[in-house]
Amino acid sequence: KGKRAFIAGIADDNGYGWAIAKSLAAAGAEILVGTWVPALNIFETSLRRGKFDESRVLPDGSLMEIAKVYALDAVYDSPEDVPEDVKTNKRYAGASNWTVQEVAATVKQDYGTIDILVHSLANGPEVTKPLLETSRKGYLAALSASSYSYVSLLKHFIPIMNPGGSSISLTYIASEKIIPGYGGGMSSAKAALESDTRVLSFEAGRQHKIRVNTISAGPLRSRAAKAIGFIDTMIDYSLANSPLQKELLADEVGNAAAFLASPLASAITGTVIYVDNGLHAMGVGV
Ligand code: NAI
Repeated sequence: KGKRAFIAGIADDNGYGWAIAKSLAAAGAEILVGTWVPALNIFETSLRRGKFDESRVLPDGSLMEIAKVYALDAVYDSPEDVPEDVKTNKRYAGASNWTVQEVAATVKQDYGTIDILVHSLANGPEVTKPLLETSRKGYLAALSASSYSYVSLLKHFIPIMNPGGSSISLTYIASEKIIPGYGGGMSSAKAALESDTRVLSFEAGRQHKIRVNTISAGPLRSRAAKAIGFIDTMIDYSLANSPLQKELLADEVGNAAAFLASPLASAITGTVIYVDNGLHAMGVGV
């Protein structure tokens, strides 16, 4: 029987979420997508107009099908949490049922269950500021959008996940080593995400037989990464210093996610898997 995946955090064809969707689709999974509310219109329009058709091509020549795109803002758990200024914001006006709880309920209504949950989203409003210059508000916003969003997604989706299911998030080495430029509390948010991966693997494993892992990915020129501002430097650094001196393709992260979601990884949970051409293993630049 084919598996069904919900991938949160796709708004174009450049990021890791898109590549993960493609690898899962190539392996036969049905693809559901959660797209940030303010980015929903442009994503759906581009999809409909065929703007992504070239990037939808799977290894067998067919095009990846997205069964349904759900509006999602993973910063809000239920309608009571949404402040008035967001409710009335015109970027949110056209969409409905986009809090985490409502999205899970709608997916349940539409499809009953899922097998694979992917969290491929992050946001840190003060990411360009050093930690010492980060406000409390900015720090907590980074944790809310990038770390708690995962706890919330898993909490609300677990009841509709089939036993044996798999959950995956994306993290970055800045959680454990100093990466100047990855500021605003984003390094803290990734550290929380990795620690939570361990604790959640225990709770979700014991209660629901769900595996929980995170992929520590190397640098990719995604929309989010370009907003940080130092992505080209990080890509050059990686190319110069990694054990494998090649470009890191989003598809390589996608394939690792497909492996982690598959029965081939049936005993792997609570882990951080590095998909970074080996850069994490280096102690000094060369
Ligand atoms: P991306 O821009 O393709 O994905 C980030 C997505 O998060 C966007 O689609 C954005 O709309 C969405 N988003 C932001 N706030 C949201 C919210 N409140 N609710 C729902 N969606 C929201 O960029 P990328 O880089 O592919 O990011 C995916 C994941 O990969 C992130 O967790 C990121 O930290 C991680 N990562 C990225 C690396 C890179 O170099 N690009 C390196 C290592 C990890």
